[in-house]
Amino acid sequence: MLLKLLLVGLGLGIAALTAGDEHHRFVYSGFSNASLTLDGTASITQSGLLELTNGTALSMGHAFFTSPLRLRDSPNSTVQSFASSFVFGIISIYDLSSHGLTLLFAPSKNISAIPVQYLGLFSGSNNGKTTNHIFAIELDTWQNSEFRDINNNHIGIDINGLTSLQSQPAGFFHDHQEAMQVWVEYDREKTQINVTLVPLAMVKPRKPTVSAIQNLSDVLTDAVYIGFSSSTGKINTHHYVLGWSFAMNSPAPSIDIAMLPKLPQLHHPKGRRSWVLEVVLPVATAALLLSLGTIVFLLVWRHLRYDEVQDDWESEFGPHRFSYKDLFHATGGFENINLLGVGGFGRVYKGVLLRSRLKIAVKKVSHDSKQGMKEFIAEIVSLGLLQNRNLVQLLGYCRRKGELLLVYEYMPNGSLDKYLHSGKNNSMLSWTRRFQIIKGIASGLLYLHEEWEKVVVHRDIKASNVLLDDEMNGRLGDFGLARLYDHGVEPQTTHVVGTIGYLAPELARSGNATPSTDVFAFGMFVLEVTCGQRPVNHQNTKDSQFILVDWVLDKVQKGSFGETVDARLKGKYNVGEAYLALTIGLICSHPFAKARPTMRQVMQYFDGEIQPPDLSFEVLACMQSEGFDPYIISNPLSTIGSIVSGISGGR
Ligand SMILES: Nc1ncnc2c1ncn2[C@@H]1O[C@H](COP(=O)(O)OP(=O)(O)OP(=O)(O)O)[C@@H](O)[C@H]1O
Ligand SMILES: *[C@@H]1O[C@H](CO)[C@@H](O)[C@H](O)[C@H]1NC(C)=O
Ligand SMILES: *[C@@H]1O[C@H](CO)[C@@H](O)[C@H](O)[C@H]1NC(C)=O
Ligand SMILES: *[C@@H]1O[C@H](CO)[C@@H](O)[C@H](O)[C@H]1NC(C)=O
Ligand SMILES: *[C@@H]1O[C@H](CO)[C@@H](O)[C@H](O)[C@H]1NC(C)=O
Ligand SMILES: *[C@@H]1O[C@H](CO)[C@@H](O)[C@H](O)[C@H]1NC(C)=O
Ligand SMILES: *[C@@H]1O[C@H](CO)[C@@H](O)[C@H](O)[C@H]1NC(C)=O
Repeated sequence: MLLKLLLVGLGLGIAALTAGDEHHRFVYSGFSNASLTLDGTASITQSGLLELTNGTALSMGHAFFTSPLRLRDSPNSTVQSFASSFVFGIISIYDLSSHGLTLLFAPSKNISAIPVQYLGLFSGSNNGKTTNHIFAIELDTWQNSEFRDINNNHIGIDINGLTSLQSQPAGFFHDHQEAMQVWVEYDREKTQINVTLVPLAMVKPRKPTVSAIQNLSDVLTDAVYIGFSSSTGKINTHHYVLGWSFAMNSPAPSIDIAMLPKLPQLHHPKGRRSWVLEVVLPVATAALLLSLGTIVFLLVWRHLRYDEVQDDWESEFGPHRFSYKDLFHATGGFENINLLGVGGFGRVYKGVLLRSRLKIAVKKVSHDSKQGMKEFIAEIVSLGLLQNRNLVQLLGYCRRKGELLLVYEYMPNGSLDKYLHSGKNNSMLSWTRRFQIIKGIASGLLYLHEEWEKVVVHRDIKASNVLLDDEMNGRLGDFGLARLYDHGVEPQTTHVVGTIGYLAPELARSGNATPSTDVFAFGMFVLEVTCGQRPVNHQNTKDSQFILVDWVLDKVQKGSFGETVDARLKGKYNVGEAYLALTIGLICSHPFAKARPTMRQVMQYFDGEIQPPDLSFEVLACMQSEGFDPYIISNPLSTIGSIVSGISGGR
């Protein structure tokens, strides 16, 4: 019996011995059956997790392998090679956690530490002291500048204090809500410490995450307790260890990952929140920034592209103002294919208003001066109110920097001069059509001069400003535009507007446009349409110009007016109408303003209400002198009076 007991005792002793040996090698894949020495908030959960801190703020916990380890083979020899591995997880409600956990090697299980930033390792007073004999691997999620932490998410090798010997940034907290695995290896010969950190279930890479040379024989005591420490700060954080292994003079035994307990699935919004913060938020922010950028770009682009100039006084003309954007789109961006022609004032583009499908012609007039713009716009707008079947309707305007855009109704058959001077027979106008156009223009001009509430002088009557609508009716365009130059910068400079050949002599001298100067130009226009010749033509000989009015006068004096009518009509014309047109053309282009009829009289001539004056020899001779008779110039009024009476008397 005694022997039996003795044997049992001996057996126990042997068991203890082998157990003692086995203390140099252990594996915990989960801690359900582990007997660890715990303190503080440390506990082993039902699922087998080692919970070092349980979320209580400003708390700490320790867990030690219960027995001390002898890392030296004899008391005065050096610390042998060893390796340890563990799986951990840090879970916080917020995207921050504090403070972290360590794997530590200490001379005692009674660690004097305070539960703040010291990771459960030290108190403020002993941090950094060589008497600590502590070697630790820190997994720190809080950046403490007093320990020269590199960031708020790093792994470091600590000797006796929290100022790491070596440290490396580690993605263990922010990037990995999942558990991670750490290997710690010490080589006795090289006195080298390698620490490797990877997400759980990844194969251990060959290159360590952080490595340091440190002779642990100088640090560790003979008996060493190994375990974990952790502390929380003010942020609710849970620190977990899922599995752990240790071995002397061999690689760390592998932890059975399949056996490991699961990290708790948090029911607080952490998971969704981090997903929101890490995926949705950046994407949404990027999308927002992108769209903001696009909007800003578009606004700037639009601003540059559709920029307009608008003054306060323009509000009263509101309905007549077009937006540049609308005109831009109507004309296909002022493309050249929509260019109708280029005139003295600028380019004219064809367009279709998107909303109303109305066909328009947009005239781009470059104009830098702001002066007089108000008067001009006022006039343009009031002219826009003019509605006459022989005027091209002005629909509105738009202003940009240095540019004025005038919007007219579109005349599908273009300008009259193309038909008169193209030389193509197919575009030839019959006499009936020509006479119709002449009468139409006369009535349009009469409307401008007399039937509108104020006198409007056209200033630029000529064949190219007569446009033909879809029924080939003549319509007078461009009215009022010449005024733009009257409102110019230097009113003293009499800038004569008009076209050579259509300029009345007194207009060339004084620059004063009057209804009478319009009548002169109209006369030239009538002759041009009747004869199919330009008022002034340089093509015949180099020296002498062909002056239409002189040529007609000459023919009429010789009694051969029929030769003046456009030869292309091949005699197909009404002789009475043609004679009437020539007569009106000649008396309208009389060199003396007072000798010219008014547009009302002209209309009466055309309508046959009154007879036009006979082209007597005196009248013709007087016209031929072109007003350069010295007597006429010295005493113009009396002469004009006599001529006017002469004309009316000569009927
Ligand atoms: N409302 C319109 N509808 C159709 N075509 C037009 C219209 N206005 C002008 N055009 C075309 O644009 C061309 C240029 O017109 P614009 O009036 O600018 O020039 P112009 O009459 O030749 O010279 P100026 O500017 O000296 O009067 C014209 O020849 C005509 O063919
Ligand atoms: C822990 O020990 C109990 C018996 O004490 C056993 O049934 C169980 O399987 C063990 N668990 C592990 C994970 O070793
Ligand atoms: C955390 O642990 C401490 C100490 O064991 C205990 O008093 C506290 O109630 C625990 N808190 C939670 C949330 O479990
Ligand atoms: C170990 O070293 C101490 C002094 O450091 C010495 O007193 C002791 O005799 C040594 N023991 C052995 C076994 O060498
Ligand atoms: C732990 O150490 C402190 C001093 O650091 C001491 O006061 C305390 O009694 C020790 N506790 C145990 C259980 O040894
Ligand atoms: C540490 O890592 C280096 C580089 O991979 C290797 O050469 C060395 O043997 C390792 N030391 C230990 C103690 O594992
Ligand atoms: C480590 O330190 C011990 C004691 O200080 C010394 O005996 C040993 O030679 C050192 N080892 C190396 C590799 O330097």
